[in-house]
Amino acid sequence: MSNEHENLKSFIEGHPSIKYLFTGGKGGVGKTISAAGLAYYFASQGEKVLLASLNPVHSLSSLFSQDLTGGGIEKISGMENLYAVEVDIRERVKKYKEQLSEKLRWFMKWADIPLKAEEFVDIAATNPAFEESAMFDNTIDIMLKEGENFDKIVFDTAAVANAVRLLGLSKIYGLWLNRMIESRKEALSLRVKLSFRKEKAMEEIKRDPMIKDLLDMNERIREAKKIFNNPEKTAFFFITLPLALPIAVVKRFIKMVQSFDIPTGGVIVNGLLKREYLKKGKVTEYLVNKYNEQQHYMEIIKRDLWPSVRAIIPLYPTEIIGLKTVAKVAEDLINWKP
Ligand SMILES: Nc1ncnc2c1ncn2[C@@H]1O[C@H](COP(=O)(O)OP(=O)(O)O)[C@@H](O)[C@H]1O
Ligand SMILES: [Mg+2]
Repeated sequence: MSNEHENLKSFIEGHPSIKYLFTGGKGGVGKTISAAGLAYYFASQGEKVLLASLNPVHSLSSLFSQDLTGGGIEKISGMENLYAVEVDIRERVKKYKEQLSEKLRWFMKWADIPLKAEEFVDIAATNPAFEESAMFDNTIDIMLKEGENFDKIVFDTAAVANAVRLLGLSKIYGLWLNRMIESRKEALSLRVKLSFRKEKAMEEIKRDPMIKDLLDMNERIREAKKIFNNPEKTAFFFITLPLALPIAVVKRFIKMVQSFDIPTGGVIVNGLLKREYLKKGKVTEYLVNKYNEQQHYMEIIKRDLWPSVRAIIPLYPTEIIGLKTVAKVAEDLINWKP
């Protein structure tokens, strides 16, 4: 068994308790269709599945030709056990901004900085990483809130790199939070010392909303990390086309994810031209060139990534829209053998 190639089917069967699956990779490589194919497969096996999209564009609505933009969890019509949610990231960013400015306002007041917090928040919020932090925060939200309600949650997320960086950052963030909490305690205990009614002041520390808030946030990240780092719960899948750039991106992601102790599910190669395409009908030089180019990159995939490759999805004659074609992706994913 140990020297047999682990394909998607054997990987899934070998990890029945995995609940959170992620698809990552460069733009346009097939993250959304792979996430949908995975979700469809699990649903077809009778598991209750949530497909969650945290992309700035509403890709699931167009994939399923169903309006999912309401922000709530919707059942996919025509498929048992399959649910989807598309998060409105703009709404989330707005909320995130409000929360951050409250914290900053408090901090600046405490540190005696005579400036308006909002200006700093605006600068921070124009950073693209801010949007991705909001997405990441939302991912944690869905994991913690919906984990009990579904057997599997498949995340179609553009923000893998950032999510991973943020997890790494969470260590620093944790330290920063601890420092904030300590500072807050110091500030309050000074008040206790100066206070004539010490007991009452101590009560105040325990009830302090800022300390409570900071501790909650710390706890949330701690919980999320526990899930993210657990190979029996989580798997990141990396999607690539047989092309130079997406392969390079996947290699980088894998290194990054592993350095943060996040379990990888493996690599899915998408969009491969089948050899039989060259036999059917009129074969143009263009198609032959494309085919040969892909074969060259398949050699590189075989050299550098092969043991991690879990499935290869062929290039279909049309784009992937509607349940039927998603079902086809699921079938090709799960039946692939090296
Ligand atoms: N194997 C494939 N065969 C045909 N079309 C595909 C295939 N994989 C993806 N597509 C199409 O390519 C586009 C990008 O795929 P998508 O999954 O949305 O990529 P991503 O989410 O990584 O940006 C979509 O229009 C999809 O229908
Ligand atoms: Mg997508």
